[in-house]
Amino acid sequence: MNVELKCCKCGKTYPAAATEFTCACGHLLEVQLDLSAIGVSKADFEKRPADLGVWRFREMVHPLVEPSNIVTRGEGNTFLYPSERVSAFVGTRTWLKHEGENPTGSFKDRGMTAGITEAVRRGAKTVICASTGNTSASLASYAAIAGLRCVVLMPDGKIAFGKLSQALAYGAKAIQVKGNFDQALALVRQLAEAKNYYVLNSVNPWRLEGQKTIVWEILFQMGLAGQDGPDWIVVPAGNVGNVSAFGKALKEWYELGWIEKLPRLAAVQAEGANPLYRTWKASAGGIPDALEAVENPDTIGSAIRIGKPVNWVKCLQYLKLTNGVAEQVSDQQMMDAKAVVDAAGIGCEPASAASVAGARKLLESGVISRGEKVACVLTGHVLKDADNTVNYHLGKLPYPPAFANAPIQAEASLDALEAALK
Ligand code: F0G
Repeated sequence: MNVELKCCKCGKTYPAAATEFTCACGHLLEVQLDLSAIGVSKADFEKRPADLGVWRFREMVHPLVEPSNIVTRGEGNTFLYPSERVSAFVGTRTWLKHEGENPTGSFKDRGMTAGITEAVRRGAKTVICASTGNTSASLASYAAIAGLRCVVLMPDGKIAFGKLSQALAYGAKAIQVKGNFDQALALVRQLAEAKNYYVLNSVNPWRLEGQKTIVWEILFQMGLAGQDGPDWIVVPAGNVGNVSAFGKALKEWYELGWIEKLPRLAAVQAEGANPLYRTWKASAGGIPDALEAVENPDTIGSAIRIGKPVNWVKCLQYLKLTNGVAEQVSDQQMMDAKAVVDAAGIGCEPASAASVAGARKLLESGVISRGEKVACVLTGHVLKDADNTVNYHLGKLPYPPAFANAPIQAEASLDALEAALK
């Protein structure tokens, strides 16, 4: 099949084997599939076992790769939870797509199986990323499985402990950079060029192809949009690679005529790290020349503590295509939404709950209507950031918890326990 790389802004094309991630005009490249030649139908995909996960959709994830060369940990095929409790909180019927159920506990694994497979195809020896924690955890694991050397740059002191522990445990060379994520990513791109390392951040178009499968699974699990499927897909947004991959997934199936209607995308950021939200607000539906960057992003959702999202042009294009929106939520709204998701028995990390908090806010402001069906993506596992979960329930965050469930101290006696349980 003919596969090319295409600039998201000027449309210039490059061969699939090109080493660039960025066009001469400065904007990012996307994988361009020849949809007339994919050789499978929606029914073919649907018939395949769901436990093939990401690779159930191989012809539309990486058609150039031999199946025997795929580096996989069985990622994808995550559960879609209906939840009355979360629906009541949001104000309309809400489903939760739990990407924390991937092998390293986040959606990054779906991209990494595709991206590391491409790294091996290219003969890379060392792979590298900058990360707020989940990308580094995922890359470290997949690199180890593929036998590649792995370097990860993380903002010093600003990533959740569970994620740091994964990068160390999986054997990555971990460098804690005295700077934020945006600075670390800029350095990664320079270092990679100088040392011929292969970059696996979301600037890498092959990685994002794997993340498209989240949306296709939602459509198979809920029903196709326009029929029983979602009216909205709501996703936490940091470097905005994921929401861009979702837009591409929807566009491709729409162009193939496999969905009659495009679900609307909502990209939700934290108030303290809201460059995409600001740019979208200022854009009036167009694509402005420059991003409204945030120099010192800050939020308890450390995964999305990002001020210069590299995929911003694509993201705005896909929001436009799907009649989507950008939203922002406070840390308090995020942590209260997380507490509701957690207490429903499902659980997620702080940044993930931006989707649920954002859906609630969009319903309150009338953008989402009561009765519409909402799929919120939970991007990471509840154990990724245990410190902030406990701090919330202990009331140690700078705002009061709406749904605290603090542990009780008791003497070691039956009387004391009975008193505690009254
Ligand atoms: N949710 C979680 C749990 C994440 O780890 C990330 C990104 C996002 C949402 C945002 O996704 O960047 O595609 O908009 N984490 C990256 C990392 C930046 O390094 O792990 P995005």
